[in-house]
Amino acid sequence: MKKIGIFYGPTGGSTEKVAKLIQKKLGAENADIKPIIGTKAIDLDKYENIILGCSTIGGETWNSAHAKPDWDIFKPELDKINYSGKTFALFGLGDNISYPRHFVDNMGIVGKVLLSKKAKVVGQTSKDDYEFIDSEALIDNKFIGLPINEDFDFDKTDERVEKWVQTIKQNFN
Ligand SMILES: Cc1cc2nc3c(=O)[nH]c(=O)nc-3n(C[C@H](O)[C@H](O)[C@H](O)COP(=O)(O)O)c2cc1C
Repeated sequence: MKKIGIFYGPTGGSTEKVAKLIQKKLGAENADIKPIIGTKAIDLDKYENIILGCSTIGGETWNSAHAKPDWDIFKPELDKINYSGKTFALFGLGDNISYPRHFVDNMGIVGKVLLSKKAKVVGQTSKDDYEFIDSEALIDNKFIGLPINEDFDFDKTDERVEKWVQTIKQNFN
């Protein structure tokens, strides 16, 4: 397996915690980990296998002119990535109890950009393990990546990540 690049944001919270757990399960020697803040499209070029992690803090914040969430800053870079030969996997932090109509929406927003660029995306997850009403991240009746709820389902995180990491390992170059 070629070296993996894990890019995540925001820093300092649950997204970072899960990014580090994913790195640990992949083995630190197999995966670099970097905040998405300060990352440019060209920084992804040294990796064929890329994991992108984001949280969802609501559409109004994502679109707000005032707030500058890390992923909001990176979003224009998505248009500049050289997608050929790269395999992507996504994970998203969210809360299906408090936000059941927008569960992990940002993972879907990022995922849909990747799909529009014809990027190869692996690590889709069955929705059966989650109770929610709607999500932008549901594509073809599956989550485009791995949803994690550290606010209420933290006791399930380790098992969910473990299962997902085993799947993506088989699908990475
Ligand atoms: C103001 C606010 C809005 C949120 N909106 C959503 C949402 O629309 N959908 C969702 O799934 N989670 C939502 N969440 C939950 C966060 O995604 C969740 O707490 C996540 O773990 C935060 O990640 P972080 O600790 O890395 O910032 C929201 C949280 C806050 C504080």
